[in-house]
Amino acid sequence: MHIDPLEKKWIYVVILITVVMVGSLAYAAVMVNMHPPSNVETIDSKKLHLTEEFAEDNLGVETNPDGSLTVRMVAARYSFYPQEIEVPVDTDVTFRLASFDVLHGVHVPFSNMSTMVVPGYVSQVTTRFSRPGEGQFLCNEYCGLGHDYMWSRLKVVPKGQ
Ligand code: CUA
Repeated sequence: MHIDPLEKKWIYVVILITVVMVGSLAYAAVMVNMHPPSNVETIDSKKLHLTEEFAEDNLGVETNPDGSLTVRMVAARYSFYPQEIEVPVDTDVTFRLASFDVLHGVHVPFSNMSTMVVPGYVSQVTTRFSRPGEGQFLCNEYCGLGHDYMWSRLKVVPKGQ
């Protein structure tokens, strides 16, 4: 079979790109322990307010015995509740989110905090914020006419405040 030399060159380029990409994925997964958020935990979205974990009084920031934080939030058209979260810088924060109605997404720009919030499931992401400042939780899954306005506030404050 005849393969044009130029075509041959591009076949090698494509093989090289594929090897580099698959290699970097494997490296991130195995050596850096970096995985997409995966947490299969179901919940009855219609009864969120009656559950212990996502009842209104229980939402927000909670400090764990080891010093890390757990933040519980509810995504509902068209906001995340509570509407303001304050966390210290350089601290492990585990976000636990549940949707009250339809599919939402949550994303904090310039961080790796990003996940879908699927009704019927609890989404969980652990991250840490390395710089103090103000940020937003933005919805990144179209959830209705108010989708563009679905956001809430994140404050990352210096430690000890
Ligand atoms: Cu919630 Cu888009």
